[in-house]
Amino acid sequence: MDACVVFGSDHAGFALKKILANHVSASGRTVVDVGCDAPQSCDYPLFAAKLCDVVLERGCLGVLICGTGIGMSMAANRRRGIRAAVCANEYMARLTRAHNDANVLCLGERWIGVGLAESVLDVFLGTAYEGGRHQRRLDLFDSIPTL
Ligand code: RB5
Repeated sequence: MDACVVFGSDHAGFALKKILANHVSASGRTVVDVGCDAPQSCDYPLFAAKLCDVVLERGCLGVLICGTGIGMSMAANRRRGIRAAVCANEYMARLTRAHNDANVLCLGERWIGVGLAESVLDVFLGTAYEGGRHQRRLDLFDSIPTL
């Protein structure tokens, strides 16, 4: 897996994205920022799509931030191969990596504090996928026909 971490946000997640990108950069990892580039109002699905392109091409982990994290997760999960999870705490971050092999963390700047966001992100980046029985379940995502 590429050691880089890709960040994307809309205007409502812009400030937290900058803080978290600096946090990750300080740990020695390569950071990619797909935008937005200013806190002016913009449309989160566009930045979710850009981030998904990088995650799928480079096999790295991504972080999407909007006001709630929910819109970003909905947009990102439309893409095959993307498993995006909103995490409100470290427990969710650990389990979504270990069991769901989540490759995108979604956060909401309007409800999470900086300290908790950094802690959740550190756990997300530091937890490995366990595979085993969980892979059988993930394989079902793509093998069950959609109506
Ligand atoms: C923007 O106001 C807000 O709707 C967006 O950031 C996000 O929270 C959507 O899910």
